[in-house]
Amino acid sequence: MRDALQRCRECPLGYRATQAVAGEGALRPALMLVGEVPGDREDLEGHPFVGPAGRLLFRAVGALGWPREALFVTNAVKHFKFELRGKRRIHKTPSQREAAACLHWLGEEIALVQPRAAVALGATAARSLMRRSVAVTRERGRWLERDDGLRVLVALHPSALLRIRGDEREAAYEQWLGDLRRAGEIVDAWARRTPQQGGEVEGRC
Ligand code: URA
Repeated sequence: MRDALQRCRECPLGYRATQAVAGEGALRPALMLVGEVPGDREDLEGHPFVGPAGRLLFRAVGALGWPREALFVTNAVKHFKFELRGKRRIHKTPSQREAAACLHWLGEEIALVQPRAAVALGATAARSLMRRSVAVTRERGRWLERDDGLRVLVALHPSALLRIRGDEREAAYEQWLGDLRRAGEIVDAWARRTPQQGGEVEGRC
């Protein structure tokens, strides 16, 4: 899948990005955390959530006490979208068309990875996972269910928190932690899994 993903040109983004960024983490995890699109750092390094948004995300994961082996981290769109301002590459939100072209990659990841549940980080991820638009600020902290039974917790994207300045950011972070914590019971059940429940970590994807 990784090789096929690198060759993907089903939308224009693949022509400008350095590389496609596939998801990473454990197979059969408790949770698949789904972001929007790789950023500048992710595009250069080829790994999801290794830039500022990722640092905030993994600060939250640490605060929640979730082991990294319980998680698989990916994005709804696999190629960085940007506009050039001078020499700087500024992140742009993928269009619905670009996200729709990428939908099947996310579907293939879900089928391969078999998470117990998913967390949609932001509107693009929520739309891709649910195949409908989701009002994230209204639905954050709520569980939704897909037609295939996969449960999806809606949360803000960490970049939304990074855009908040001053004291309000810490308050928003605490609220975000509260939303994410709603997936804690899935992580706890995963941690108590038996091998018969398919709980062995079989490798990395
Ligand atoms: N933002 C995302 O949505 N995904 C990443 O991998 C990095 C930043």
